[in-house]
Amino acid sequence: MTPLQETIINKKTNNKPIWLMRQAGRYLPEFREIRKLNPNFINLCLNENLSSEITLQPLKRFDLDAAIIFSDILMLPYGLNQKVDFKKNFGPELGELNLNNISKIDEVDFLEKLYPIYRLINKVSKNNLLKNKNLIGFVGAPWTLLVYMINKQSPKKKLIKDFFKDKFLINRLLIILEKFLKIHIKQQVKNGATIIQIFDSWAGLLEEKDLPSYIYIPTLNLVEYVKSLNIPVVCFPRGIKNYKKFCEIVKPDAVNIDYDVDPLSICKEINIPIQGGLDPKVLLTDIENLKKQTLKYLNIFKDHPYIFNLGHGVLPKTNPDMVDYLVKTVKDY
Ligand code: CP3
Repeated sequence: MTPLQETIINKKTNNKPIWLMRQAGRYLPEFREIRKLNPNFINLCLNENLSSEITLQPLKRFDLDAAIIFSDILMLPYGLNQKVDFKKNFGPELGELNLNNISKIDEVDFLEKLYPIYRLINKVSKNNLLKNKNLIGFVGAPWTLLVYMINKQSPKKKLIKDFFKDKFLINRLLIILEKFLKIHIKQQVKNGATIIQIFDSWAGLLEEKDLPSYIYIPTLNLVEYVKSLNIPVVCFPRGIKNYKKFCEIVKPDAVNIDYDVDPLSICKEINIPIQGGLDPKVLLTDIENLKKQTLKYLNIFKDHPYIFNLGHGVLPKTNPDMVDYLVKTVKDY
């Protein structure tokens, strides 16, 4: 078994595997070099030679226990023919959302557009750098994808006023998303992904009363689907106020916590394996502080099945030497 499987499946507590969200990204000069020559982010994700190289970049530098495929949660709306653009200093921008057109898309059209992602996974999974390590595939949770598809860009601090106005549209989209997310997960697993992480980056925008319809039920459906493929599933409902309740209802194999979560209380409250938590901004400070904060998480989760990770992705301004120091601190613990 790999270190991550030992933690997630066997609930082992005396090993602390590590990988980082956005471990392949703009903080790495070797990524920026490729990115500079490839201004279209979607095309870069669909270039299986480059995307597999980028996936492996962090493993060549650091002693990480997993690679996460270099792709994006917005490849799903792209596969459904909604235009997706990544603008410099702005983030994603999505095109018109036409329910009639999306309803007509079938599995063959969808897979045709996303095949390079599955070939990337196939290729990376056979690489020696992944020996006794996991290859993490991922999807956006239905709720977060709904937010991007309707809002057409990252929401600021709250949803637009009329977000829920068209209930018909929302309910139809949730059904379509569930169908295609399952297809996307299945292909990732078939081609060599050994863990699936579900990113719900905008879980924190919802009020308690809306959680069952938009988060609990749609995510539970996906979690049960991943489990039926005999692969562990990790959920990251970022910003959700009640992680404990989420875990009791959705029952993922492990849960990633964000940096606003108090690690000490969550460690007592939740008994499934926990991943993450460290504020990525800590990597922008100094070695002493990084060590102190890292040891804080390691000490709190000493007797809990725990995968070291951050409370959100590595920030572009991060010095790779700090990541190196972090990985070594965790490995030496
Ligand atoms: O290393 C990894 O974690 C794997 C690759 C990965 C990317 N996006 C690459 C990426 C993963 C797992 C994601 C997930 C993703 N994408 C999420 C969920 C996690 C989170 O961050 O909350 C979300 C919400 C997206 C949508 C998205 N993609 C946004 C909002 C942005 C712009 C903001 C940003 O960080 O630039 C992206 C672009 C993106 N996705 C980049 C990368 C490396 C940066 C692209 C660039 O080079 O300009």
